[in-house]
Amino acid sequence: MSEQKNLDGASNGRLLAWIDERFPLTQVWNEHVAQYYAPKNFNFFYFFGALALLVLVNQLVTGIWLTMSYKPDAQEAFNSVEYIMRDVDWGWLIRYMHSTGASAFFVVIYFHMFRGIMYGSYQKPRELVWIIGMLIFLVLMAEAFMGYLLPWGQMSYWGAQVIISLFGAIPFIGEAMATWIRGDFVISDVTLNRFFALHVIALPLVLVLLVYLHIVALHKVGSNNPDGIDIKKNKNEQGLPKDGIPFHPYYSVKDMFGASVFMFLFAVVIFFWPEGGGFFLEAPNFEPADPMKTPEHIAPVWYFTPFYAILRAVPDKLLGVIAMGMAIMFLFVLPWLDRCKVRSIRYRGWQFKANLSLFVVSFLVLGYLGTQAPTPFLTLLAQIFTFTYFAFFVILWLTSPMEKTKPLPERVTG
Ligand code: HEM
Repeated sequence: MSEQKNLDGASNGRLLAWIDERFPLTQVWNEHVAQYYAPKNFNFFYFFGALALLVLVNQLVTGIWLTMSYKPDAQEAFNSVEYIMRDVDWGWLIRYMHSTGASAFFVVIYFHMFRGIMYGSYQKPRELVWIIGMLIFLVLMAEAFMGYLLPWGQMSYWGAQVIISLFGAIPFIGEAMATWIRGDFVISDVTLNRFFALHVIALPLVLVLLVYLHIVALHKVGSNNPDGIDIKKNKNEQGLPKDGIPFHPYYSVKDMFGASVFMFLFAVVIFFWPEGGGFFLEAPNFEPADPMKTPEHIAPVWYFTPFYAILRAVPDKLLGVIAMGMAIMFLFVLPWLDRCKVRSIRYRGWQFKANLSLFVVSFLVLGYLGTQAPTPFLTLLAQIFTFTYFAFFVILWLTSPMEKTKPLPERVTG
């Protein structure tokens, strides 16, 4: 028995050596996992990167299975989704894992981004980690938008109609651009086909590539942490950061715990609340698309609504589109707007704490307003919170250099 084990061990070693001579497997494993030293004080907010990876894999796998029964054809798309829900073995589960998974993705990503802002993770030297993250965010939004057209329900159709027609607001070339995107004068089978191609292959490829670059950029500079101090400044005799611990096994095990809790919650939602009260799958989307019948109230899925509310808050269509674009562009340049010497909120002045709180409130209120039919009062509210949303960036830029910060500790705290 023990001889057998030795033989196996030896053959495993030989196989690894064989691979290592031809491919840097052990080197990559050590550099990025077993000997990647991460700060020892990661907290709850540091679960979300790993969770984003998990949700990405969930979307890819369930997406492939959905594609096996889905028909990208305006005549058949809606019925093929119904077929998946009713007749395909476990089809309902795969479909809900994918549609609810899209919402889960954005929950995770918004937490992940919020963590970055809270702990100043975008500041030097992690600007590229942030920029690549923002590119991921943009592609993710495009991916979700195109995926939503595929079931060819009422909201798929009319939501796409509203969003694509926004391009029409661009002077001179707008209408031509909208036609070019649709591939037709109206949303049609042609649009469905190209959205399908982009949703199932082109954008996922880009996403996976960007996520790879995101991690490469992060591992080049190392992770930030809730104290926002540089652990590489304090090294032991072996040249290893005193406040660092190897990613594996410490964080692989911790992330597995986070993943288990997440999967439990995800399962609860899928089994008991898959439509999310109309937030994850909107009620009109259970009716087939009808170009002759506009739904009473067209609203995008919740993760777009903060930006949609900004769009609607501005009376002029073109200016609205510009404001919506700026709302995202400002996030891109955060690393240069924030000029504070200290990264983490733990050691920053009251200005930043108040400013970030107002930003979060603005984002949430705008998110709510974007789901509602506009009334004069709600539009006024949307205008006020659009103002405070943008004020965050301006105030940050103005106040960050003169914030009264607390002294940073030498070593990371608990
Ligand atoms: C598919 C989407 C994404 C995946 C799979 C992903 C994955 C990860 C992972 C695994 C980490 C390291 C673990 C952690 O710090 O939590 C990380 C760190 C980071 N990510 Fe992402 N990410 C995604 C999207 C984004 C987005 C949209 C942003 C922001 C715009 C972003 C910004 C950051 C930053 C700044 C860090 C470094 C945080 C620190 O060290 O404190 N990521 N990401």
